[in-house]
Amino acid sequence: MNILVTGGAGYIGSHTIIELINAGHRVLVVDNLVNSAQESLLRVERITGKKVPFYQIDIRDREALSSVLDKYELDCCIHFAGLKAVGESVSLPWEYYENNINGTLVLTDVLRKHGCKNFIFSSSATVYGDPTKVPIKEEQPKGICTNPYGWTKWMIEQILTDMHKADLSWNVVLLRYFNPIGAHPTGLIGDNPNGVPNNLMPYITQVAVGKLERLHVFGNDYDTPDGTGVRDYIHVVDLAKGHVAALKAIASNCGLAVYNLGTGHGYSVLEIVQAFEEVNGVKVPYQIDPRRPGDIATCYSASGKALKELGWKAELDIRDMVRDSWNWQKKNPNGYEK
Ligand code: NAD
Ligand code: WQD
Repeated sequence: MNILVTGGAGYIGSHTIIELINAGHRVLVVDNLVNSAQESLLRVERITGKKVPFYQIDIRDREALSSVLDKYELDCCIHFAGLKAVGESVSLPWEYYENNINGTLVLTDVLRKHGCKNFIFSSSATVYGDPTKVPIKEEQPKGICTNPYGWTKWMIEQILTDMHKADLSWNVVLLRYFNPIGAHPTGLIGDNPNGVPNNLMPYITQVAVGKLERLHVFGNDYDTPDGTGVRDYIHVVDLAKGHVAALKAIASNCGLAVYNLGTGHGYSVLEIVQAFEEVNGVKVPYQIDPRRPGDIATCYSASGKALKELGWKAELDIRDMVRDSWNWQKKNPNGYEK
């Protein structure tokens, strides 16, 4: 298929492009580089040996997007482009709603005008809010989100669902990612957050590499086996392959389909620290701090639907995840900056 990848220079997008190319698809990338570097795509080209057409464009720029799409016959769009920092979304709600929601509206309008109504969206387990039950099944109701970022995912899911209802020729796959970590096994691409990381794994790797002094564990009084938060960490390469699998649903005219992309296993913060130390032979000093506002105790997926319908399941385990996260950080202590 010919696939438009928005946000393809970012963490998940860059890993997904490799798997798409490996599976024989052709891609073109649109990204405004607001949270990424073009270097990631140059490295994708090194890994795959294939040229990746790239346009530095904001998806809200209707004319620029339209003139790029005039040049291609597209079969599908995989839409990663968006702002994703939870804390920042609380201080910049307008910017988050405008970028993520308006971006998706402009993009889908330009796509339909170019005859492409196949769409895969990067949603998030955050739409379940504080889940009523674990493991979380897709049909569980969307919950109350705790921040504007989460609401943008919730609202975009709703918008795409309504678009499909009104025009059944849209095929829409909503992929709800759990917690992606890890990096490509080459160590050439990986997670490259700006400033002090918000997420657990890049914080751990920056402590391990000596850029940060110690990990702050946010709370050890949750109702979990060791009191720290439990999440469903998934290797980003497995997650990337989930998108290749989702193209099967698109190819079979799935209409509207929703899948969790997780492993189905939960690990606590302290289990992750322990696995990281054991596998990599590095110490991760930490201290226990108060809970982080908005955090939930436990979140992990029921992952059977993607296996049954797409034939996809995560293959890599927690040891692979902590090894590859460290390999990337060790080889690139300053991310894509030289
Ligand atoms: P990322 O920030 O690394 O990648 C997003 C990319 O989108 C960046 O390259 C950024 O420059 C680009 N972008 C943002 N706004 C744009 C715009 N208006 N026009 C063009 N490009 C724009 O993030 P990621 O971790 O790779 O996440 C990809 C997608 O997956 C996002 O939509 C994110 O919300 C979603 N998601 C991520 C996680 C996670 O933990 N990383 C979990 C669930 C869902
Ligand atoms: C994981 C666990 C923290 C940092 C977020 C978004 C979610 C999704 C994935 C996009 C929690 C603990 C963390 C630290 C810690 N993104 N922690 N010290 O919060 O599950 O999910 O990223 O859609 O929407 O909310 O991920 O990596 O921030 O936290 O103790 O310095 O690690 O409390 O238990 P989270 P995370």
